[in-house]
Amino acid sequence: MLKPRSPEQHEFDHVVDFLNHQLRADSTWPINSEYPTALTPSNIHNMSIIEEGGSILSHALIKPIITKTPYAIYKIGAIGSVVTDPSHRQQGLSTLNMQNCLAKATAQDCDLLMLWTDKTEFYQKFGFELAGFEQTYVIDKPLPTRSENIRIVKGTQVDPQALLKLYSQHSVASVRTLDEVQQYLKIPNANVYTAWSNTNQLLAYAVDGKGADLQTFIHEWAGQIDALLDIVSHVVKTENQPYHLMVPQHAKNLRKVLDDLQVFSHRGFLAMIRIHNFEAIATKVKKAFRAEGYDQIVLEKQHGQIVFGYGQDLYTLDEEADLAKILFGPATIDEMTFIKPETRKVLAAILPLPLWVWGWDSI
Ligand SMILES: CC(C)(COP(=O)(O)OP(=O)(O)OC[C@H]1O[C@@H](n2cnc3c(N)ncnc32)[C@H](O)[C@@H]1OP(=O)(O)O)[C@@H](O)C(=O)NCCC(=O)NCCS
Repeated sequence: MLKPRSPEQHEFDHVVDFLNHQLRADSTWPINSEYPTALTPSNIHNMSIIEEGGSILSHALIKPIITKTPYAIYKIGAIGSVVTDPSHRQQGLSTLNMQNCLAKATAQDCDLLMLWTDKTEFYQKFGFELAGFEQTYVIDKPLPTRSENIRIVKGTQVDPQALLKLYSQHSVASVRTLDEVQQYLKIPNANVYTAWSNTNQLLAYAVDGKGADLQTFIHEWAGQIDALLDIVSHVVKTENQPYHLMVPQHAKNLRKVLDDLQVFSHRGFLAMIRIHNFEAIATKVKKAFRAEGYDQIVLEKQHGQIVFGYGQDLYTLDEEADLAKILFGPATIDEMTFIKPETRKVLAAILPLPLWVWGWDSI
């Protein structure tokens, strides 16, 4: 019987060859250069392959990401590069690799799992649900200039420390090392733009494109709003085409500026999300409510059902997948009219919880 397992170190190149062949047949760069922190020998224990007679038939991987948010720190397992050779599909191989990734997530104490896919039905079977928010602004013409005396530069000759310093000011961000930023700067088919003051201070940066994905989508940015929007305008002007700025729901100031400028936007989901460790998530959510003074918050499992509410006013949910939508959106507490108004008010004080994965980390 075919069994999923982690590749051996000496099999790493073989795995990359398999993934290049399956997923990047038309690319001039190897797929591991797009995901340098996930598809790397140091993450090989988090890869899962099914192999027969020396040929790899199927692969999936998980990459743990520690993400800080205002209310909690989450260990998120990002799952990606899920693929089976076409001649071996529909035989349960990806299911086995997914189960192996879920077991790895448990062994590494992941709270949440995330993945980005258009095959939603396949992943719903594993408890993933489209959840969270992602607001995409379509900038189809340059916006009014906002800052004076700034210099915008295209290129990756930037001190990673300076990028990291701006990035770490985000309220929701993964923990990144300097080395990781250095590796992200080398991702092919990506453009890095930076805005500098007249005293050569880095004011903002923006990145569009990432290997085969996200062309004209600015998926990674940080810094001052004015300088960021000047970068975006500069890019729209110099590249002479519309760009898409991907913005978290909780970036309220930036969204207000863009909305006031009447920039068209559409709302999507952050990812397919699975609550992987219910107890850990429940503890973090309850702590967030208590920190705001709501000490009678209830979120627990009873007889296989999720019970939530405030004080004596309790409600039940059958599916953890529904909980992801309540905790991280897009469900809003206000639309849950079956909940008493006073309880809705308490829940809406915290929910939906801010959650985001910046583009360089997505896999
Ligand atoms: C999506 C993909 C990864 C699935 O791989 P797979 O190995 O065929 O997956 P499985 O065999 O485990 O499951 C596929 C289907 O076969 C069914 N199946 C599972 N075991 C089976 C078995 N023993 N016999 C027959 N069918 C089976 C599953 O229920 C599933 O049904 P669904 O299509 O209705 O969801 C594969 O189609 C693929 O590589 N696609 C291209 C790459 C891609 O798009 N990857 C996703 C990027 S995130």
